[in-house]
Amino acid sequence: MSTTFQLDTATSRANPTPAPMKRLTVPAIRRRKKDGATAEPIVMLTAYTARQAQLLDAHCDLLLVGDSLGQVIYGLPSSVPVTLEMMIAHGAAVVRGSYHAVVIVDMPFGTYEQSPQQAFENAARLLKETGCAGVKLEGGAAMAATVRFLNERGIPVMGHIGLTPQAVNVLGGYNARGRSDAEAQKIVSDARALDDAGAFSIVVEGVVEPIAIEATRAIGCPTIGIGGSAQCDGQVLVTEDMLGMFERVPRFVKRYADMAGLVSDAAARYAAEVRERSFPGVEQTYQPK
Ligand code: KIV
Repeated sequence: MSTTFQLDTATSRANPTPAPMKRLTVPAIRRRKKDGATAEPIVMLTAYTARQAQLLDAHCDLLLVGDSLGQVIYGLPSSVPVTLEMMIAHGAAVVRGSYHAVVIVDMPFGTYEQSPQQAFENAARLLKETGCAGVKLEGGAAMAATVRFLNERGIPVMGHIGLTPQAVNVLGGYNARGRSDAEAQKIVSDARALDDAGAFSIVVEGVVEPIAIEATRAIGCPTIGIGGSAQCDGQVLVTEDMLGMFERVPRFVKRYADMAGLVSDAAARYAAEVRERSFPGVEQTYQPK
């Protein structure tokens, strides 16, 4: 059983850091799946900032600094333009804001595909400069040699198969994968190849349910579904999607809050008070000791 901790989230700053606790580890996540079954499903959410990490940490086994930050934080059209420097800055913030969950940072497009050596150099920077516990990279069998290379050199790797957003220009969009026999077989063989190469878990994104289940049953390491199946060994969502920050989200996303509504309502009330000059003055809010 994983333990959740109450974080002191009372400060508006990442420091003082809460008293150090023993973080969950990559091997502990990998061990959740025993003899093909995961008694306790793995909970993962994306996080990009220290404050977000503070709020999510107690509830999650893994915090993923996803390259979805390109669209979510930077308003980019896809994750393709995301840089290693962006991932390092946000990865370090998430590590500072958490002390329980395992923090995994995405390797952005163009920083790992060329060779295992290129991947090692950039993954090592992510570990050294953020303090994260491992990296995630997209791709199946074609990336297996790289996953093995990193793992054997001390860098835990989470795989990512099915709908791989960095390949949007090859895939032609963000549609679910695994509808044809050839695609379905490739997804399962990709999962096997990454598992054999030592991936400690694999994100299975946008995959038709029977194939997500087949891939989950075919491998020893846990699968983490997003638009896959509730039968995966864990689940991940983009936090802003499940908080209701965006009007348009993928069909599989369940919204657990209406943050967009709350933010625009608060901003409207603030703006009205400023314009009416009813905004509280310093003497009304400042309480000298
Ligand atoms: O970048 C990301 O946030 C991801 C998750 C959607 C799995 O890869």
